[in-house]
Amino acid sequence: MSDAWHAACPLADLPPGSRKLIKIESVDIALFNLAGTIYAIKNRCPHRSGPLIRGFVDPTGGIKCPMHGWRFDLRDGSSERPAQATTYPTKIENGYIYLAFPSPRLD
Ligand code: FES
Repeated sequence: MSDAWHAACPLADLPPGSRKLIKIESVDIALFNLAGTIYAIKNRCPHRSGPLIRGFVDPTGGIKCPMHGWRFDLRDGSSERPAQATTYPTKIENGYIYLAFPSPRLD
């Protein structure tokens, strides 16, 4: 497996302070724009699958799951709880948001 860049959505669809749910290869991914920085995290809490898109974002780059309040760092998915959320690198090119997402090797 290697990572490949996938187009997520136009940057204009995710203004600062907003969030958006997208799907890449059947995986639901929550996008957040925190003051111009784009974060991508799998929309499935590693505790009991809560929808992180409905979580509570704090200005330091954390998200609290709406189910039981476990907090995850949007930058790397780390948590003080015994769990690790899946995050994805992002980039912006030509007005589009891209995510690095694992793709099967073709060779
Ligand atoms: S399901 Fe997310 S904290 Fe429990």
